[in-house]
Amino acid sequence: MADSRFTTHPDLFDLSGKYALVTGGTRGIGVMMARGLLQAGARVVISSRNADACAEAQQLLSEFGDVQAIPADLSRHDECRRLADLVQADSERLDILVNNAGSMWREPLETFPDEAWDSVLDLNLKAPFWLVQALLPALRRAGAADDPARIINVGSIAAVHVAESPNYSYASSKAGLHQLTRVLARELGPQHVTVNAVAPGPFPSQMMAATLDAIGDTIAAKAPLRRLGRDDDMAGIAVFLASRASSYLTGTIIPVDGGIATTATGT
Ligand SMILES: NC(=O)c1ccc[n+]([C@@H]2O[C@H](COP(=O)([O-])OP(=O)(O)OC[C@H]3O[C@@H](n4cnc5c(N)ncnc54)[C@H](OP(=O)(O)O)[C@@H]3O)[C@@H](O)[C@H]2O)c1
Repeated sequence: MADSRFTTHPDLFDLSGKYALVTGGTRGIGVMMARGLLQAGARVVISSRNADACAEAQQLLSEFGDVQAIPADLSRHDECRRLADLVQADSERLDILVNNAGSMWREPLETFPDEAWDSVLDLNLKAPFWLVQALLPALRRAGAADDPARIINVGSIAAVHVAESPNYSYASSKAGLHQLTRVLARELGPQHVTVNAVAPGPFPSQMMAATLDAIGDTIAAKAPLRRLGRDDDMAGIAVFLASRASSYLTGTIIPVDGGIATTATGT
């Protein structure tokens, strides 16, 4: 007989029957998170601009579960709405929204152009807001008091500490996304939708390729855990934040960085 002192769920991390959208799910951190959600049993839609990359990632991920891909340029408001409409035409409920698509613009202070603000803020900060706004009906329908719908924003440790190489619009966009996470968490909590952010440290990806090729070993050697991020580290945090195990978390910014930013000494 079950021990009535415990209120338990048979599998805290099971996502069977859940429906998820992962933006930028065709490579890098997005594909790591999508794979985790699929393995935990969720049905997943991935999205990015490139139709061929969408098809390739769908093929790759189909080994792990039921995955669809929809190309969209999320730096545009109308494209965010179109993607949201397609997702809601497929299902009236959306359990998990992962706002992961992002871009970075590296250039010295003296020549940093206006476009590097607009393009980075449009994708990294405005697109998550437009997608939340457009998908709110489906998120509200999916959320319940004991198992809320989830919004997971992918921020960065570049907005937790100050990185050695400055990224003006990127770091600012991620700081904005972290605060937007808290603002939305307060508003949407009573509607049974949680909003949390993951702040990754260095993970191998196209965005990080040049940096990690040049100084990846040095970054790993200085990290308290003495390594870069791995696929399972991102899959794990995505599954946790999407699952019943994190039902009582909202408005948090979780660094997944091997301790790099969280233990920075400033010396
Ligand atoms: N890797 C790291 O170490 C690291 C650290 C901290 C934070 N992050 C964050 O993690 C997220 C993923 O980064 P990543 O390193 O995996 O980068 P990545 O390899 O460059 O992947 C970016 C993804 O976003 C998509 N994307 C880019 N522009 C888009 C647009 N306009 N519309 C729709 N999709 C678009 C890309 O596909 P298309 O090019 O086909 O559109 C791709 O799927 C970003 O938000 C990034 O800031 C990464």
